[in-house]
Amino acid sequence: MIKQFNRYSLLSHNTFGIEATANQFVEFSSVDDIVGFLGEGYDGRSFVIGGGSNLLFVNDYNGTILHSAIMGMQVVEEDDNYLLLRVGSGVNWDALVAYTVEQGWGGLENLSAIPGEVGASAVQNVGAYGVEAGELIAKVETVRLSDALCQEFLHDDCCFSYRHSIFKAAEKGKHIITHVTYRLSKNPTFKLTYGNLSEKVGLLGGATLANVRKAVCEIREAKLPSPDRIGSAGSFFMNPIVPAEVAEALVKEYPAMPQYPLTCGNVKLSAGWLIEQCGWKETPHEHVGVYKHQALVVINRGGATGRDVLDFASAVVASVKEKFGVELNMEVNVIG
Ligand code: EPU
Repeated sequence: MIKQFNRYSLLSHNTFGIEATANQFVEFSSVDDIVGFLGEGYDGRSFVIGGGSNLLFVNDYNGTILHSAIMGMQVVEEDDNYLLLRVGSGVNWDALVAYTVEQGWGGLENLSAIPGEVGASAVQNVGAYGVEAGELIAKVETVRLSDALCQEFLHDDCCFSYRHSIFKAAEKGKHIITHVTYRLSKNPTFKLTYGNLSEKVGLLGGATLANVRKAVCEIREAKLPSPDRIGSAGSFFMNPIVPAEVAEALVKEYPAMPQYPLTCGNVKLSAGWLIEQCGWKETPHEHVGVYKHQALVVINRGGATGRDVLDFASAVVASVKEKFGVELNMEVNVIG
């Protein structure tokens, strides 16, 4: 089924709670629908959205917003140890994680309670608590917007890295993702080394899929605002990655600065810490600020426009650059 709307409000399609309108909004519930729509020769400006949890609309959108409502989860292959689960791109991300945990299939449990939909997990390579979705993704199926061709990208084709994939690089804006296939384990091993996750899981009675999910949900609830109550897009910035010499000089000047050495010799810094040190938890703008428990999350304090958020973000970037000489890059997609 295809649903088409004109002059459509995007308020319920962005977790920032920004009021913006699209000329046209088109929602598909099958691959055939998408292929049919694109095959009729649609050649206007278009943008594909998922759950709207990583977007900032700065203007009304003068074009067509495409949204996949393709549902369903199906085991397409399995052996004694692993299975391949093919999931529709419109499935709610946390519903997928909850289902895999209930089934006893390991891999996604550390990624519990992340807002958004399955399609975006492959674009953003969503990550949390030591796991990135890309590690589990075996295949991404898409329809190419230019000619309605159905394509498949295997794991290596996707070029996953920190919050990045080919769908944010060479293939950016060229596809609508229809299905993502995850490789999950029937004999789960647990990744509990991030922060206090291991301790939390211990308090819940030890490492099981359900306990890891519960612990992650509790940690996120304490640190991150719920989109139902406070408008935000989760982490607004990416954690900056700097050469080891830069990190060394910074930690000499700021001994408390958290640093995470990467295998390539570079060092990841904590954007939340850098932003907090610049005083932004205490000095919000009228409509926009950072979240009290996690400065990496920019929040809509009520009535913010996309432009207000962008102005605030620019001020944050400038302050971090001035104090630490470090450049912050946005994780959020700015549209309009
Ligand atoms: N910190 C501060 N002040 C703050 C925030 C953080 O000092 O306001 C410090 C913390 O004390 C800690 C360090 O910074 O020492 C790292 O903080 P945290 O563990 O909260 O993780 P993060 O690096 O800030 C990243 C992801 C989150 C993900 C967490 C846990 C990015 C951009 N963000 O945040 O992802 O949940 O790790 O894995 O990589 C998201 O993408 O929307 C998101 C929430």
